Amino acid sequence: MCGIIGYVGTQRALPVIMEGLKRMEYRGYDSAGVSIMDPVGFFTLKRAGKLAVLEGALEGHSHAGTIGIGHIRWATHGAPTDINAHPHYSCRGDLHLVHNGIIENYRELRDELTALGHTFVSETDTEVLAHLIEQELQPGVPLETATERGLKKVVGAYGLALISAREPEKIIAARLGSPLVLGVVPDGSLIVASDVAAIIAHTRDVVYLQDREMAVLTPKGYAIRTLDAQEVSRPLERVEWDIGSAEKGGHAHFMLKEILEQPDTLNATLLGRIISGEGLVKMGGLETIADRVRNIDRLIIVACGSARHAGMVGEYLIEEYADIPVEVELASEFRYRRFPAGGKTAVLAISQSGETADTLAALHEAKRRGLLTLGLVNVAGSSIARETDAGMYNHVGPEIAVASTKAFTSQLALLVLLAVYLGRQRRLSHALSEELLHGLSQLPLQMGKVMQQAEGIIALAQKYRHAERWLYLGRKYQYPVALEGALKLKEISYCHAEGFAAGEMKHGPIALVDAATPTVVLAPRDSVYEKTISNIEEVRARGGAIIAIANDEETVQRSLVDHAIIVPRTLEALSPLLTVVPLQLFAYGFAVARGLDVDKPRNLAKSVTVE
Ligand code: M6R
Repeated sequence: MCGIIGYVGTQRALPVIMEGLKRMEYRGYDSAGVSIMDPVGFFTLKRAGKLAVLEGALEGHSHAGTIGIGHIRWATHGAPTDINAHPHYSCRGDLHLVHNGIIENYRELRDELTALGHTFVSETDTEVLAHLIEQELQPGVPLETATERGLKKVVGAYGLALISAREPEKIIAARLGSPLVLGVVPDGSLIVASDVAAIIAHTRDVVYLQDREMAVLTPKGYAIRTLDAQEVSRPLERVEWDIGSAEKGGHAHFMLKEILEQPDTLNATLLGRIISGEGLVKMGGLETIADRVRNIDRLIIVACGSARHAGMVGEYLIEEYADIPVEVELASEFRYRRFPAGGKTAVLAISQSGETADTLAALHEAKRRGLLTLGLVNVAGSSIARETDAGMYNHVGPEIAVASTKAFTSQLALLVLLAVYLGRQRRLSHALSEELLHGLSQLPLQMGKVMQQAEGIIALAQKYRHAERWLYLGRKYQYPVALEGALKLKEISYCHAEGFAAGEMKHGPIALVDAATPTVVLAPRDSVYEKTISNIEEVRARGGAIIAIANDEETVQRSLVDHAIIVPRTLEALSPLLTVVPLQLFAYGFAVARGLDVDKPRNLAKSVTVE
């Protein structure tokens, strides 16, 4: 989830591009770069670190070129270094390119291109694009045709912008699965970017590119065509957002934006990892240690907060589908415990930021004991990503709101994939893994259906804005979801919310139920459905209001709940990915109704880097 921008027109390109990059800073990033072209050649500068580092390096440069591209990077393939920063170049250095997305078949392409004599300098997947298009850019072949031919060989997702000395007045932009928007500035200049926030200081007249479309931008105007050279004509749209809300995708808060983008981020997590028809999972990050992973006979998951709740779902998943005993430990406790562990024990650290001090310390302890360490991390190049033996990235882009939402669902999806991966190394049948993977691939669409109810869920939460105490109940796969729902509510609304395993109610927590304490019950049609219905009846008998997350109206009628939110039905093991979404929306609506700063709740930090 990087940010890309390209400018062509009558103004100096460098300030427009730097300003656009600044507008995309909110996304978080780890390196940045620009290439400006003029009749003499390219001026290029790339730096790891904050945009300020690039700005510092640019001091004293006032390049006059009126065409150029820029990029802020959120590293996925290759650490955040100057060399891995974009733009990337062709061997001859006459084609520069910026890219947002992931090229899944980059290894194969890289091998083919290397055999043809291309030399690669970075560790990125993006660099293959520059060489691939260069390879097609034979004498007499127009830049757009070469781009089109190159892109047809690509498997994966891209939003890209490129410039070439061969046709020095052109920017070519293309997209498949990553957003691209073209802005038409009143003076005739054109800006293409991955994010409308990078454009609206200059114009509000835009055209959104669709998948498999390419735009050719010159100082004289633009043309859009498909990758099969069919012309596309699309009217300009008017963006009404101001700059602040553009960063938030037009939403009031980052948290809402991040909740609503989960169908897309889930797709990004799954991209290239399901080998459909074969019931297999591709985990690029585990390839180098596949044999060691095959021998794991016990898994300890260490994590904090939401990441731990994801780990608890992972425990059910991996025990059920891979038949490996799993324990989930609070990293802050594990680091100080004496834990007996044999040589085939692996430790999996789950962390969105990859910098959580307790999780990192738990990892150090595992390493000190000589155990295999794995990471499930969103921030590439973070401490946990670097220090584990191997791992998996979420690929959901920066999560800005303190309350974790899109990273959480992505963690759940990766844990399903891991369970299948480990299971297939052991005794999991082809049929069962196919069923799980098929169910997983349907989830983005099903999640979209939950999102259609967002307004209603937020309105429902507003009705409850005076409630000060909350209970959340769930069984089996829904127990960690209950914990997560309660954590979401408490961290952004400052109300007391507690999650319980529904079966524990009679052992104490039911004493908390009264007319002033609403209970949220997770009641999808799973293997413990009837038991959950009995729990609802116990709460109802004691006068508390009940909100159920259910799969059907029948549940609502049977259990006489006060309110129900219906989510699509899926396999039991996948249901947390759908049932948690209404809880995120509910917590959001509740905190907004109480007038609180949902993105930056009091006393909390996004990344807890101290003990
Ligand atoms: O970056 P991490 O995933 O390691 O962070 C762990 C917790 O601090 C984090 O999940 C926290 O609980 C969130 N604020 C939950 O919304």
